[in-house]
Amino acid sequence: MPTERTRSRASTTSRAAIIEMLKADHKKVKKAFREFEKLDPEEDSEQCQAIVEQTLADVQVHATLEEELFYPAARSSLSDQDLIDEAEIEHMTVKVLIEQLKSMTPEDEKYAAMFKVLGEYINHHVKEEEGEMFPKLSRAKGDWDGLQEEMTSRRAELEQEFMPHGSAVPDEDMEGEDAKAGSMSGRSSAAARGGTSRSARGEGGARAQAAGGEEDEEEKE
Ligand SMILES: [Fe+2]
Ligand SMILES: [Fe+2]
Repeated sequence: MPTERTRSRASTTSRAAIIEMLKADHKKVKKAFREFEKLDPEEDSEQCQAIVEQTLADVQVHATLEEELFYPAARSSLSDQDLIDEAEIEHMTVKVLIEQLKSMTPEDEKYAAMFKVLGEYINHHVKEEEGEMFPKLSRAKGDWDGLQEEMTSRRAELEQEFMPHGSAVPDEDMEGEDAKAGSMSGRSSAAARGGTSRSARGEGGARAQAAGGEEDEEEKE
């Protein structure tokens, strides 16, 4: 039987690991927006499209994880409910921008501008999460035990949902021809069909199971 003290230690460890995982996601996405800034949308249109598609998928996985699991836990830990309300509303705006981007092609005059605006918006949102929400959570009481495992397994499902062709790899590996092959092989249309977080939960799980295979094993490590 776990004692009160071991339970609370497990909860603190889980919370710290979750916050580190979310920060790593933020870092990856921010880096992608910086990479995009260095490119010429006309000259490097394929590379631009690959970055956009990968980033939209990464943002959708991250936002769904926060909405389904992290924000509800944060809500029960924090007295400042406005902070979570604002974060959820910001996610709604991010989704609107994502849907607009998905309806565009790289040839579209405003494609690069739209992606840059999404980047600026996400930077603002991340600043609030890392500057306000995470520090408050680190000081608050709450039961986080088990949530890290739940988020890790849900992430594997969501990656199958939004990045179904083996593109769920660290960004360092997304270079050269492999990146192009991965990004051009239908991931965007699959992501476009992805729908909302709730539908993703059911479908993604079933698809992840059906897919089986090596990728699935890797995600569970
Ligand atoms: Fe968020
Ligand atoms: Fe976040």
